[in-house]
Amino acid sequence: MSMEKAVKLIAKVNYVVVFTGAGVSAESGIPTFRGKDGLWKRFRVEDLATPQASARNPRLVWEWYKWRMRIVFQAKPNSAHLAIARLEKEGVVKAVITQNVDGLHQAAGSMNVIELHGSIRRARCTACDFKLEFQEVPLENLPRCPKCRSLLRPDVVWFGETLSLDAWRRAVGEAMRCDCMIVVGTSGVVCPAAYIPLLSKERGALIIEVNVKQSALTSVADVFLKGRAGEILPAVARAILDERCLST
Ligand code: APR
Ligand code: ZN
Repeated sequence: MSMEKAVKLIAKVNYVVVFTGAGVSAESGIPTFRGKDGLWKRFRVEDLATPQASARNPRLVWEWYKWRMRIVFQAKPNSAHLAIARLEKEGVVKAVITQNVDGLHQAAGSMNVIELHGSIRRARCTACDFKLEFQEVPLENLPRCPKCRSLLRPDVVWFGETLSLDAWRRAVGEAMRCDCMIVVGTSGVVCPAAYIPLLSKERGALIIEVNVKQSALTSVADVFLKGRAGEILPAVARAILDERCLST
């Protein structure tokens, strides 16, 4: 189905939710996880993104996260993030559910963002309830809690950990409420996040996928728009807003 047909479908719906993965930030220079030069091709998950890795070698885990933070802090929202934020401002998109931890949707102006996997810009104490938002990459090798001096850890969800119940509940609520979900830049292989588009599909929502190649979710997509998010999303946003102007 072409972009024009997809837009005509989206222009008729009332409650659009956007679900994003690493591909939406690829054009901001943030590496994806499973692409040809993806993070999991170059590093071992078990050594870096699990509670066991952090207990075994917190210094290595913090080094890796500080390396990723440097990339994130230098990154800017790209035209896909900006198009999604514009569609929220114009009342078309009601929520963004993201697997990303880079904070670029908020930096682009999106207000209702549900971070299923937390945020690399935040850290939390391993012993008390203290949390902080970094403005820059921490200098200490092992950042410590100012309240109780225990080790801090990145406020992200590691493999083997459960998602924040509040984020999960909000995401499920939006998935059940929307009549259209635009799925952008995800391989759709990590659960439970990947269940979110399936919940919307179950409820009869229109599923539009934007990706440079097919994913594990393409089989449930009503429309597959092949291409880079930074190119497709602005075109979709322009076309939807034109279409809505025409039909008012
Ligand atoms: N535009 C659109 N899609 C793109 C682009 C782009 N410019 N570049 C890459 N993609 C697509 C790839 O084709 C792939 O389908 O983005 C997807 C990225 O997939 P992954 O690297 O697996 O990232 P993601 O799906 O977000 O991973 C989910 O896995 O490791 C965990 O917690 C991590 O949140 C992450 C989760
Ligand atoms: Zn503490």
